[in-house]
Amino acid sequence: MSRYVHITGWGAYAPPRIVTNQELTHIVATSDEWIQERTGIVERRIADEKDYTSTMAAKAGARALERAGLLPHQLQLIILASCSPDYLIPCTACIVQDALGATRSAALDINTACSGFVYGLSLATAMIQSGQYDNALVLGAECLSRVVNWTDRTTCVLFGDGAGGVVLQAAEAEGGLQAFALGADGSGGDLLTIHLGSRTPLTLDNLANSETLIKMNGSEVYRFGSRVLNQCVREVVAKAGLEVQDIDLLIPHQANVRILQKAAKQLGLPMERIFQNLDRYGNTSSASVPLALVDAIETGRVRTGDNIVMVGFGGGLTWAGCLVQWTFDPRTDTRGPIQRTVNSIQMRVAPVRGLARRVDRRLRAMEDRVRGRDTGRLDDNGRRNGHSSD
Ligand code: ACO
Repeated sequence: MSRYVHITGWGAYAPPRIVTNQELTHIVATSDEWIQERTGIVERRIADEKDYTSTMAAKAGARALERAGLLPHQLQLIILASCSPDYLIPCTACIVQDALGATRSAALDINTACSGFVYGLSLATAMIQSGQYDNALVLGAECLSRVVNWTDRTTCVLFGDGAGGVVLQAAEAEGGLQAFALGADGSGGDLLTIHLGSRTPLTLDNLANSETLIKMNGSEVYRFGSRVLNQCVREVVAKAGLEVQDIDLLIPHQANVRILQKAAKQLGLPMERIFQNLDRYGNTSSASVPLALVDAIETGRVRTGDNIVMVGFGGGLTWAGCLVQWTFDPRTDTRGPIQRTVNSIQMRVAPVRGLARRVDRRLRAMEDRVRGRDTGRLDDNGRRNGHSSD
């Protein structure tokens, strides 16, 4: 029996603070005309001090779960794509798992920059198709404003913050995620960097040289993006046994409107079939494709039976495309009003599970100490506390 993987829920979150091009002219030597003409960006969202990558991802994830009618404790896998995670450890997916109360879910981060969300879809689809899991939440989330160099006009005007994601579920019904085309070219790794890690640790020198912030060779990445978007779309469509003209909606990474216009020409697709919202969000890297997908659904651009192609490309260099045959009617929610209210309450109380686990861990540690059980500590004679040596 064939096992298909469908998108059954979707959600996005963008921080409320809108920063216009005009505002950026007070920070760097730029102009609204230059930014709009060269990129198509008009404004972007920037997180305030209360939002991080994980908080935005959790909000988008909660919306996606609610839309899918899946409760947090039923979720089996979280894959979170980001190149601006909260920390190196713990991974942001674990923080999101705790925030959602998805206590039975495995959780991992991936980082392939702007193609991360589609890479994540590919991993989750393979894991569901193999029978390892029945469902997964795939998120793309970024707080790029914290890793942008706000004195570098060639990059700071491009990026924004936000998160989006989808719930994937196994089903026997045909359709859903049909084909993937993933790729990488590490020889171009130096073209787009955030050098924070074991090779460029946090030293005063590295901080002073802004090594730990975004650096990009814009024109090279532009050339790469223009070429790879066209190639990736053609490859994924061919793998699905379709033609480019069968695409109802192309949802590309929202980097630069000129890249999208070029792709439209190369592919022979009218611009109406290429979704764009970069004028309002800028380049949100891993969050860009899911933010655009949710936007497309909510503005009625996605219909049952549509062939949707999503493509991400960026640092690494990496690229990833997928073709989805859309099976759900995005306008209908099969749950009745009572079920929806119950689900909504269950979603809100779910995070208490994490709190209960933390309290339980503390109580167990206290109990072990009081009862003299093995606590892992060594005593003065080098023996483990609470362990007899014979
Ligand atoms: N305001 C005003 N002038 C500017 C600005 C600015 N914000 N930024 C650059 N300029 C100047 C440059 O200094 C340069 O001046 P000069 O000719 O006197 O030296 C001039 O504008 C032209 O600069 P270019 O870099 O050639 O401009 P270009 O037309 O290539 O546009 C841009 C730059 C927008 C960055 C473009 O190259 C681009 O979109 N690149 C691709 C980005 C991308 O696709 N990223 C995807 C991956 S992102 C990820 O993975 C995280």
